[in-house]
Amino acid sequence: MPGPIVLRDPEEVRRICDEARASGKRVGLVPTMGALHEGHLALVHEARRRSDFVVVTIFVNPTQFGPNEDLARYPRDLEGDLQKLHEADVVFAPDVAAMYPPGDETRVRAAGLAAHLCGPHRPVHFEGVATVVTKLFAIVGASTAVFGKKDFQQLAIIRRLVTDLFLPVSVVGHPIVREADGLAMSSRNAYLSADDRVRALSLSRGLSAAARAFGEGERRAGTLRGLVHAEVERAATSIDYVTLADVDTLTPIDEASLVGKRALLAIACRIGGTRLIDNLVLGEDPPPHAQP
Ligand code: PAF
Repeated sequence: MPGPIVLRDPEEVRRICDEARASGKRVGLVPTMGALHEGHLALVHEARRRSDFVVVTIFVNPTQFGPNEDLARYPRDLEGDLQKLHEADVVFAPDVAAMYPPGDETRVRAAGLAAHLCGPHRPVHFEGVATVVTKLFAIVGASTAVFGKKDFQQLAIIRRLVTDLFLPVSVVGHPIVREADGLAMSSRNAYLSADDRVRALSLSRGLSAAARAFGEGERRAGTLRGLVHAEVERAATSIDYVTLADVDTLTPIDEASLVGKRALLAIACRIGGTRLIDNLVLGEDPPPHAQP
């Protein structure tokens, strides 16, 4: 089976996507930073299902990394990634100068939704994401773009920017893909030592405990959040947050209140030196771990 065409020039990608649309094809987009795993491939599969011409972008976007983050050591393996992309028609793998040419100065800023969860811990992150995703939407002109729900806040911000900027693209959120033992798939899992890998299960284990309690009728916000925090605290090197939040606004829910039909439980913590995130929507998602 022939592999995808690899393009580096935004204008060439625009041209090939224009041609695809002109011949009646629906163009689907999956933006990634590479180091692809089964979670990414599920997004590509979903894009394939919904469109006739699939563009996967592989670009480690520098503007979404803070000065002390892992931009330099972020895993890069273009050759390995290409071997996995049987369902893509085009892989767009630009260099930094192609996406941010000299004189580039426009940024897309998400305000309210970026104020919570990861926002305060990663001050430049969502502006970088919103900016690069807007550029990719403009280059590719996809009718559908697929993102993973593991980055729940990112997905909410992208949905917001599509609405606010009247962008003609339908954003699809794909459920989190997990390893058999519950760990959410992430390119950053490659940083985990064998010991860290075991400790990393505390995130999905905590979410499972809360989901089960919710399923059994527990509605006290403090208790549900506490179940997750207790698990994560045992294993994490440090915790950025364990938060119970409104699914739409991402505003934290008061510990003393009762949860309604749905609520987002979100975690960001360090296991060893690796920052991991995970989340679950109570009232919607099943517990990631089978009953112990
Ligand atoms: O989720 C990611 O991999 C990145 O944040 C994205 C959406 C590709 C933007 O660089």
